[in-house]
Amino acid sequence: MAQSIAIASGKGGVGKTSIAVNVALILRQLGGRVTLLDADFGTANAHILMGENLSPKIDKAMLSDGGLSDALIKTSHGITLLSGGSAARDLIDLKKTDRLQLIRNFDAINDETDYLIVDTPAGASDATLAFVAAANCVLLVVVGEPTSFMDAYTILKAANLEHGVRSFSVIINMARDGQEARRHFDQFLAIALRFLDVELTYAGHLPISAPLRRSVVMRKPLMANSNDAIGPEGQALQSIVQKLLKAPTNESHGIRFFLDTAGKET
Ligand SMILES: Nc1ncnc2c1ncn2[C@@H]1O[C@H](COP(=O)(O)OP(=O)(O)OP(=O)(O)O)[C@@H](O)[C@H]1O
Ligand SMILES: [Mg+2]
Repeated sequence: MAQSIAIASGKGGVGKTSIAVNVALILRQLGGRVTLLDADFGTANAHILMGENLSPKIDKAMLSDGGLSDALIKTSHGITLLSGGSAARDLIDLKKTDRLQLIRNFDAINDETDYLIVDTPAGASDATLAFVAAANCVLLVVVGEPTSFMDAYTILKAANLEHGVRSFSVIINMARDGQEARRHFDQFLAIALRFLDVELTYAGHLPISAPLRRSVVMRKPLMANSNDAIGPEGQALQSIVQKLLKAPTNESHGIRFFLDTAGKET
């Protein structure tokens, strides 16, 4: 069965898409067949970071019964992209039935995918929570600011209390160093454990990185060329991927990517 990893943060602009794209590239370099779902419907931008130009007709196709395959874009990076479309207002407020249909449609690519990375939109909308609950690994991206802690906690609480998700991995992004990052993780962990029955696994930190920021401007992902010398941010991303592959999985019941409602493999 394909593995699904949902990346969420609550707060916007903390690095979800940058991390999603680079994690996808690393998994590809490790030999995996990777699909990236940019679930930021209507304002998707993973394709921009990847230097891909989208044809707008893909937007609605992925919501139709069996239409997922038509919406897949083979990128030049060897990753398959499913984009929520940009400048497409009709996709912004997806109906619940459309969301569930989309999650179920992934069964069609189970045999051709090893990893599905889901880049979720900022906020704690029903859509974000549905994608988080449907994944078997949930990665929360947190930066060391009270607003980020608060927004990540909102996702954690809603995913836990409303969908029964217990296990989460956490990355501290834009950290000054490892010690500061660990301190921020411990603070976040203490808040979470005080109020919720959850299990948080520290997946490591990503330093503040000028090359990472530049890669967005250049539309060439940091990990796009495995022959380039890998800087500290690249090593940090590789280490994050290794931790994610070993992290406890989401055992909650409900509609899942590549699983039926009873939690049985399809
Ligand atoms: N570790 C980092 N060091 C420096 N800049 C970073 C780092 N991580 C992310 N950024 C920058 O922060 C900005 C926001 O990143 P990104 O778009 O990945 O965030 P996001 O969480 O997906 O945002 P949104 O909520 O809008 O979808 C980008 O300019 C990106 O280059
Ligand atoms: Mg984003």
